[in-house]
Amino acid sequence: MAPMEGVTGFVYRNTFAHFFDSIDKYYTPFISPGEHKSFKSRELKDVLPENNAGLNVAVQMLTNNAEHFIVTAQKMKDFGYKEVNLNLGCPSGTVVSKGKGSGFLSFPEKLDRFLDEIYNGLADTGLDISVKTRIGRYEPDEFYELLEIYNKYPISELIVHPRVQKDMYKNKPRMELFDYAVEHSKNPLVYNGDICTINDYEGFAGQYLKNKPQDVSCNGAADGAGGEITAVMLGRGLISNPGLAGQIVNGKLPDRNTFRAFYDALVDAYRAEIPDEKNVVFKLKEILFYMVNMSGDKDAYWKKIRKADSLMELNTAARHAIASGDVQ
Ligand SMILES: Cc1cc2nc3c(=O)[nH]c(=O)nc-3n(C[C@H](O)[C@H](O)[C@H](O)COP(=O)(O)O)c2cc1C
Repeated sequence: MAPMEGVTGFVYRNTFAHFFDSIDKYYTPFISPGEHKSFKSRELKDVLPENNAGLNVAVQMLTNNAEHFIVTAQKMKDFGYKEVNLNLGCPSGTVVSKGKGSGFLSFPEKLDRFLDEIYNGLADTGLDISVKTRIGRYEPDEFYELLEIYNKYPISELIVHPRVQKDMYKNKPRMELFDYAVEHSKNPLVYNGDICTINDYEGFAGQYLKNKPQDVSCNGAADGAGGEITAVMLGRGLISNPGLAGQIVNGKLPDRNTFRAFYDALVDAYRAEIPDEKNVVFKLKEILFYMVNMSGDKDAYWKKIRKADSLMELNTAARHAIASGDVQ
């Protein structure tokens, strides 16, 4: 499950895992280790071990300061986590202007030094350090130099979202650069981007996963020199259709009642977590924005959901949307 700020926090992850299986690993939305070297309370809550019991979770960090990364990674190790992840993909203006997320990709030398420091600084901890990257800030061909840098370090998994920052989430993933990674990466690869339906997955698997489509783990390069594709990471498609991973792995989709029960459980879980009902409504809308993709007439349902003021109104609109239509 991809990290999605505002969506895939611990409440969502735990509720999801209760109803749906087939997710091997959950990535937390990014936390930003700051100068204070401690966490905001929202960030701390999201990574507290008791809030992630029984889930395989990797903690994502957004920073360009190696010391902050190292100190926080060590705390994550003390919490019992086995993997930390570096965010080199966030396209948001405020993040990029500070040289973080995909903004860091414009400074290859600095990035190289940063990686050198964190891989050296954390070598003794046994922590896996994975990287989630876009292919560049402005132009796709920035990726050649970036991959050369990544190849110098033992990146546990290089998760590639083949868009540049400028693309935001528009345009199509630039698969020719992912192909380049498959051929030239020395580290295991994870593909991320626009796998929203079972058809999208099968298209990807047919081309990149040369063994059986269900087997996400196989070598993409004929001579074994390139990066092995160890997983696909699912974001918006999975929030739209929480049964997508199960559909990929088992070929089966849960019935409508499961989606409805999942939604009801999310409502209860957010109500228990968020005191103000207005904020519960706001939070659920962020999720329903994706879930309406499953419904018959998504524009009409989204209009009703968007307009809902109270939780009761929202639940009525959401349940109608969930009960309608078929997942493709
Ligand atoms: C609302 C939203 C929040 C996101 N938050 C994060 C984040 O915290 N960290 C991150 O690395 N990527 C974040 N992403 C990017 C996703 O992890 C993923 O790379 C992107 O959505 C493309 O994958 P998809 O096509 O499967 O959705 C976010 C994306 C969205 C739409």
